[in-house]
Amino acid sequence: MVGFLPTLLMQDSLIIKPSKKYPLVLWMAVLALVMISGVYICILCLRQKGIPETSNVIKVRFKEPQPCPHPGIPQSEVPYVHYPEPTTYRRNECACTAVRFFAILSMQRSGSGWFETLLNSHVNVSSNGEIFSVKERRSNISSIVRTLDKVYNLDWYSSASKNECTAAIGFKWMLNQGLMQHHDEIVKYFNQRGVSAIFLFRRNLLRRMVSVLANTHDRDAKQLNGTHKAHVHSRDEADVLARYKPTINTTLLVAELKQMDKWGADALEYFKSTRHVVLYYEDLVNKRNKVKDVLKFLRLPKRKLSSRHVKIHTRPLSDQVENWDAVYNTLKGTEYESFLHADYQM
Ligand SMILES: *[C@@H]1O[C@H](CO)[C@@H](O)[C@H](O)[C@H]1NC(C)=O
Ligand SMILES: *[C@@H]1O[C@H](CO)[C@@H](O)[C@H](O)[C@H]1NC(C)=O
Ligand SMILES: *[C@@H]1O[C@H](CO)[C@@H](O)[C@H](O)[C@H]1NC(C)=O
Ligand SMILES: *[C@@H]1O[C@H](CO)[C@@H](O)[C@H](O)[C@H]1NC(C)=O
Repeated sequence: MVGFLPTLLMQDSLIIKPSKKYPLVLWMAVLALVMISGVYICILCLRQKGIPETSNVIKVRFKEPQPCPHPGIPQSEVPYVHYPEPTTYRRNECACTAVRFFAILSMQRSGSGWFETLLNSHVNVSSNGEIFSVKERRSNISSIVRTLDKVYNLDWYSSASKNECTAAIGFKWMLNQGLMQHHDEIVKYFNQRGVSAIFLFRRNLLRRMVSVLANTHDRDAKQLNGTHKAHVHSRDEADVLARYKPTINTTLLVAELKQMDKWGADALEYFKSTRHVVLYYEDLVNKRNKVKDVLKFLRLPKRKLSSRHVKIHTRPLSDQVENWDAVYNTLKGTEYESFLHADYQM
C-alpha cells in the first residue's frame, strides 16, 4: 500500500500533464496534494512500524540540556553555578546565564526587609521574600524541599521575580521558620545543590527587641490609618510608629537576650560547612560599601543598590524605651551592657 499510492498519483499527474488547458493554479494544487499525501503516508508508515519508540529516543536526546560552557569559572566555583530550566517559561537568550542560589538567614526585625529590597534593586537578583512564613510550606521536610526546588528552578512567582536574566535567586528565611528544626536536612540540601547562605544578624539585640515589641504593638494598634505596617517608606510614617515606647519586662530580659544570642551562634555552627557570609545590620547601615561585599559574594556585576525603606527607630535607645531606668539597671554590669551605649550614627 505504501508504495502503491504515490505511483497512482504520479500516474494521475502524468496523465494531466500533456493537456495544456489546465492553468498553473491547478498544477500547484496537484503538487500540494501529492506532497500532503506523501507526508500522510510517511506518518502512517512510521506509526505502523512502531517507530514512536525511536522518535521518543530522538526527542529525549534533543531535550537533554545543552551543557553551558563555564569559561573562566574556577573549578571550586562550579558547584555554585547553575543553569535552571524553569518549567513555566524559557530563559531564552539567558539560558546560559549562570545562576547563583542563595538564602538570607536571619531573625525578625534584623533589617532583612530593608536588605532584601536593596538586593532586589539589582536587575539580576530575585529574592522572593519570606516564603516560609506560610506554615504549610514548612510543615515537614518534604514540603520544605518541594518549595526550595521550585524557587531554585526559577519557577517561584513573587513581586521580586525578575526576567529570564536572573543571575542570583533566593529568599529570606527566619531561623524560627523551620530552619533550626530541620537544620540537618537543610544543610544537606544546601551543600548538595550549591546554595550559599547569607547570614544577617543584628549586633544590638536590645534594639532588635525594641523593634519586635513596637512591631507587635502596631499589629494590634494599626497606627497608620488603621493598617499595620512592618516597614515604611516615609519619614512621617516612621515617626508615627517610633512614637510608641515599649515597656521591656526586665525579669526576662537577660534570659531573652541570651536566647537570641544562642540562636545565632547555633545557626552559624549548623551551617559552617555551607558556603556562607555573615553580615551585621549595623555594618550595612554605617558602611554602605559593605553591601558591595554581598554582590561580590554572589559574583554579581556591580550596581548601585537602593531601597525605599525608611528606618523607624533612629533616636537613642533611652528615648525609645518606656522603662529605660529599669532596663539600664538590669543590663549594667552584664555581658550585654554595651547594648545600652552602642548607638550608631544615622
Ligand atoms: C543582567 O540582566 C540584564 C538585563 O536583563 C542582562 O542583559 C544581563 O545579561 C544580566 N547579567 C548577568 C550577569 O546575568
Ligand atoms: C507534609 O506537609 C504537607 C503540607 O502540610 C502535607 O500535605 C503532607 O502530607 C506532609 N507530608 C508528610 C510526609 O508528612
Ligand atoms: C492617613 O490618611 C490621610 C487622609 O487619607 C492622609 O492624608 C495621611 O497621609 C494618612 N496618614 C498616614 C500616616 O498614612
Ligand atoms: C514579666 O515576666 C514574668 C515571667 O513571665 C511575669 O511573671 C511578670 O508578670 C512579667 N512582668 C510584667 C511587668 O509584665
